[in-house]
Amino acid sequence: MTTKEKIRAIAACKGIRPVAQLTAYDYPTTRLLDETGAVDMLLVGDSLGMMVLGYPDTTSVTLQHMLHHTEAVARAHPQALLVADMPLHTYDTPQQAVRNAEALISVGAEAVKLEGGSAVQEQLRAIISAGIPVQGHIGLLPQHIKEDGGYRMRGKTDEEAETLLCDLRAVEAAGVFSVVIECTRAEVAARLTASSSIITIGIGSGHGTCDGEVQVFHDLVGGFPWFVPRFAAQHAHISQDIKAAAQTWAKGLILPPPPSNNDLH
Ligand code: KIV
Repeated sequence: MTTKEKIRAIAACKGIRPVAQLTAYDYPTTRLLDETGAVDMLLVGDSLGMMVLGYPDTTSVTLQHMLHHTEAVARAHPQALLVADMPLHTYDTPQQAVRNAEALISVGAEAVKLEGGSAVQEQLRAIISAGIPVQGHIGLLPQHIKEDGGYRMRGKTDEEAETLLCDLRAVEAAGVFSVVIECTRAEVAARLTASSSIITIGIGSGHGTCDGEVQVFHDLVGGFPWFVPRFAAQHAHISQDIKAAAQTWAKGLILPPPPSNNDLH
């Protein structure tokens, strides 16, 4: 399917069936997830900063990191739509946003995602005018946790709910094909979804409140046991399997037989 056909198929899911999005940061994981046929969108999320690169949050992720991982994911030629995150300070102006979105497309991304509502409307418009599909991201914005008061639930007051609605309207007006709604009170996420014609994708915003959901791959499979968000949908425990495999293998190692007298000369 072409990128346009994939986006049309995802848009057609509204009200018909939930849309599934997972993060992927490398070639084998992408192949495995894509071979299930169960995933509509794969996201090279800047969560790779924590899940793969060992940073405490997403703010240290660079465009170079994203290009490197997006290129690896694209080598799997997934049937799912390949979305790549734009890291912090790679879309500070509309011109910079277009240049960097084009760089991600040049290594195989089919769409890009950037965080923010009204504050990034010009950047969204510029990228979309350049012919690049964009997924928006509103609610909790991990790239801005330092200024925005940490990982707290959004939409708890009427004022915050109103701001979220303005952000949704801003990204819709810019022409995004979908929007992630992160860590937003379930009732508010449901209201935003009901009032929108585009595909909303929830994470930490309640179950069955959006048109689809996104999960971080490592949360889904138990691959990052040191921090598991309360909204993680953990369906496997691969960290235990990895440790057990390494221990079983190491325990089974044997030494070569001691040299006999004949072997000494
Ligand atoms: O970087 C990421 O993985 C994300 C998802 C949590 C939506 O932005």
